[in-house]
Amino acid sequence: MLNIGTQTLETERLILRKFELSDAELVYKNWTSDPLVTKHLSWDVHKSLDDTIKYVNYICELYNKEYCFDWIVVLKETNEPIGEISSVKTSKKHSLIELGYCYGSKYWNKGYATEVLQIVIKYLRETAKVEKITACHLSINPASGKVMKKAGMIYDATLKEYRIDKNTNKRVDLVYYSTK
Ligand SMILES: CC(C)(COP(=O)(O)OP(=O)(O)OC[C@H]1O[C@@H](n2cnc3c(N)ncnc32)[C@H](O)[C@@H]1OP(=O)(O)O)[C@@H](O)C(=O)NCCC(=O)NCCS
Repeated sequence: MLNIGTQTLETERLILRKFELSDAELVYKNWTSDPLVTKHLSWDVHKSLDDTIKYVNYICELYNKEYCFDWIVVLKETNEPIGEISSVKTSKKHSLIELGYCYGSKYWNKGYATEVLQIVIKYLRETAKVEKITACHLSINPASGKVMKKAGMIYDATLKEYRIDKNTNKRVDLVYYSTK
């Protein structure tokens, strides 16, 4: 696995690039303040722009560390950031990266998450020489599993009742996919 970091990538409709401090306002407007986005995520909606400024600052600091893969996703047509994708777990020893992603709800169901996951998997495998890429979703969030499947990932395992759904306080399954 090569320490080549977050290089700019491009798809037909999207640019994937590093976060910049000046992105914070639109990040807040488009997804970190959106309760539909955080419904199934481990973090909660940002209550103010200040929370997102801190978050974007934190990511910008991460770029100074080794093996940092963390992209903001920008719609070419409008130059508007619509979401993000990053490595949420990195193991150099096992040549493994686990990806996480989210997009503002007004941009859902247009194929953007799939388009992004496909190019990121290609970059990580072919350019960064990562052997194994994984991702997981709560069983109550099937749209995310659909994205993994459409991007060519293969179902690995279901970890029974591994999480508590923050909306209902009920235990739910965690479903893993990976590249082969
Ligand atoms: C999950 C998420 C990333 C999907 O992004 P997206 O850009 O809408 O994804 P795509 O358009 O590429 O594909 C979504 C697919 O899920 C399907 N889908 C949407 N809602 C669904 C549901 N409730 N059940 C099953 N499938 C669903 C869509 O029909 C589409 O499949 P299709 O192309 O075969 O019609 C987005 O909804 C999101 O950011 N959610 C909040 C954060 C999150 O859950 N992140 C993932 C954490 S594991």
